[in-house]
Amino acid sequence: MPVITNIDDLKRIYERRVPRMFFDYAESGSWTEQTFRENCTDFDQIRLRQRVAVDMTGRSVAGKMIGEDVAMPVALAPVGMTGMQHADGEMKAAQAAADFGVPFTLSTMSINSIEDVAEHTKKPFWFQLYVMNDTDYTSRLIQRAKDAGCSALVITLDLQILGQRHKDLKNGLSAPPKLTPKTIANLMTKWSWGIEMLGAKRREFGNIVGHVEGLTDTSSLSAWTNEQFDPTLDWGKISKLIEQWDGKVILKGILDAEDAKMAAKLGADAIIVSNHGGRQLDGALSSIRVLPSILDAVGDDIEVHIDGGIRSGQDVLKALAMGATGTYIGRSYIYGLGAMGQKGVTTALEVIRKELDITMALCGEKDVANLGRHNLLIPRDFEGCWQD
Ligand code: GLV
Repeated sequence: MPVITNIDDLKRIYERRVPRMFFDYAESGSWTEQTFRENCTDFDQIRLRQRVAVDMTGRSVAGKMIGEDVAMPVALAPVGMTGMQHADGEMKAAQAAADFGVPFTLSTMSINSIEDVAEHTKKPFWFQLYVMNDTDYTSRLIQRAKDAGCSALVITLDLQILGQRHKDLKNGLSAPPKLTPKTIANLMTKWSWGIEMLGAKRREFGNIVGHVEGLTDTSSLSAWTNEQFDPTLDWGKISKLIEQWDGKVILKGILDAEDAKMAAKLGADAIIVSNHGGRQLDGALSSIRVLPSILDAVGDDIEVHIDGGIRSGQDVLKALAMGATGTYIGRSYIYGLGAMGQKGVTTALEVIRKELDITMALCGEKDVANLGRHNLLIPRDFEGCWQD
């Protein structure tokens, strides 16, 4: 086994091990992938201020997200089809997160169901909700998440219609994969994935199959979103969902200060500044680039979290120092899961914690709570200079 020192090492193993269709699903942005790329490259534009001769003993990266203790302010983001990246993927990732002490967020579009994950973890997890046309089904999903003891509802606001990802269309993405000459040829080279998948608890969308009737194609994420997601979702409906849940709520997919103000007004506990990993509106700004304007607008009224482009502890530190209370990793842990299962998720978290801790020390800080813009060198034009 090669020595794993960073997230890219996991990505290389992941790419070899997992069928192309699912690697491409994770590794895509929409259309030209500009936003997907800039989520990462914009982090690189921010530099760190090195400080010396500061006692660096007794450091801590632990913190709180929506009032929950976290071993570091890094949650696992909701990722669709995680159970296709590795057999029982959601159960394994949730277990790794629970053992490590960070939140796990289960996607509505998961392979393992809400109940599967609840049975396999000792700690409460967060449930990510897509709002459906079928209000009864949405209510049932909310009730199932309550019954499973989920400690937060993460409502995604930026995917009522699916951004086009070219590779998924060309690959005929589905769960389980449809057996065409192209997929068979690729699967022949992925034996260990296939053998483990034969023993998996599920190979279909676990929150959907068996819970909804009359679907034309239960294996296709794009068919499901086109047919079932509620295109009329608005702030009024979101407000009712918040009431219905009656617990901690996080609104995901905020990229504009005006929307952030609405989220705060509705009484959500946190927002996630997010462009859905560059998978929705290609051409939108990267998450880290819009973060300062959103913090300026609502930073005192609501917790501001961020996802998109976080591949290292340095990225986490930059987001926290900018003012975010919490961060999320999606692809970074999926690489680990696809490469090595549960152990790979733990490794991804360990890599990030170590990078965060050492970077913090070299910046002259001992506690993530003390990070601030004084630790960063931000280009003057970082937020962009756009016409009104
Ligand atoms: C679903 O959340 C996706 O981005 O594919």
